[in-house]
Amino acid sequence: ARPRVWVSQPLFDAVVEQLGAHFDLVTTAQVTAYTPELMAERLAGVDGALVTLNERVGAAEIAQAPRLRAIANVGVGYNNLDLDALSKAGIVATNTPDVLTETTADLGFSLLMAAARRITESERWLRDGRWQQWSFKTMLGADIHGATLGILGMGRIGQGIARRGALGFGMKVLYHNRSRLPEAQEREVGAQYVDLDTLLSQADHLVLVLPYTPASHHVINAAALARMKPTATLVNIARGGIVDELALADALAHGRLAAAGLDVFEGEPAVRPELLALDNIVLTPHIGSATLATRQAMVQLAVDNLVAALGAGPDAGQPPSALNLEAIKAAKAGRAIA
Ligand code: GLV
Ligand code: GLV
Repeated sequence: ARPRVWVSQPLFDAVVEQLGAHFDLVTTAQVTAYTPELMAERLAGVDGALVTLNERVGAAEIAQAPRLRAIANVGVGYNNLDLDALSKAGIVATNTPDVLTETTADLGFSLLMAAARRITESERWLRDGRWQQWSFKTMLGADIHGATLGILGMGRIGQGIARRGALGFGMKVLYHNRSRLPEAQEREVGAQYVDLDTLLSQADHLVLVLPYTPASHHVINAAALARMKPTATLVNIARGGIVDELALADALAHGRLAAAGLDVFEGEPAVRPELLALDNIVLTPHIGSATLATRQAMVQLAVDNLVAALGAGPDAGQPPSALNLEAIKAAKAGRAIA
């Protein structure tokens, strides 16, 4: 029998249907929120699945999916996958890097500009009919050009933001990352490595672009916020859990931070009332990679990954962006020895 694959959400039909050339294809017509039980049920009878960042694939779901050999995540972040459990079970996991880098960097910069220049706050004020008289001191914001841009997390998206800041806006760009970039690359993106404390205290605008892991949970907490300039802007386009949102709301409400732009939230799609209550914050519904061209490219890459991971197509066995081929090998070797 042909392998069976399942697609967890409505994506782009024309792209998803390519899977039908190789596999029995089960699609999902309605946008769906999956409970762990429903997720386990959907994964139970399939060889491969194409999922989005809202679908959690953990050890419990994997244990109930004996046929599962591949999970293709539509998204670059993969904190929704238990990679360790997948590797131990010999299941190939893939994500969609590169195709969304520039689009997501654009959104990061948009949020930064909207927050620093109070764009959405101004618009609400205007629409509320409060613009009675032009005034010299209405909606004074912070400059972006020439300011110091801090970037926490210097992967591909971080580098895209650095280039925009350094080359487009003449900013001084500082970054912190687990590992330092090679010097030539630092020069190319126009960024200088500093420790976290220096980053926090010197940035006029700080953009978060690091992966969400146990180590990055609430990295931006009350203590970190207290290190930042009261005039600074904070932008999060990574994952909500990186920021202690209550501490952020408190800092914004009490003038200890000027503004924030958030595309991601710890309990999304729920957004804390403490954040919604603030004027000096720009909120978007996790749209970092949301352009038509990029979302199509992400689905295409996920499809190519799934086809290859299940041993079909021109890249059979070598998915273009596999996350755990080495880890699977190591897990197999470990078991053989044990
Ligand atoms: C979106 O957040 C992604 O990780 O692609
Ligand atoms: C994503 O591609 C990143 O590395 O930041």
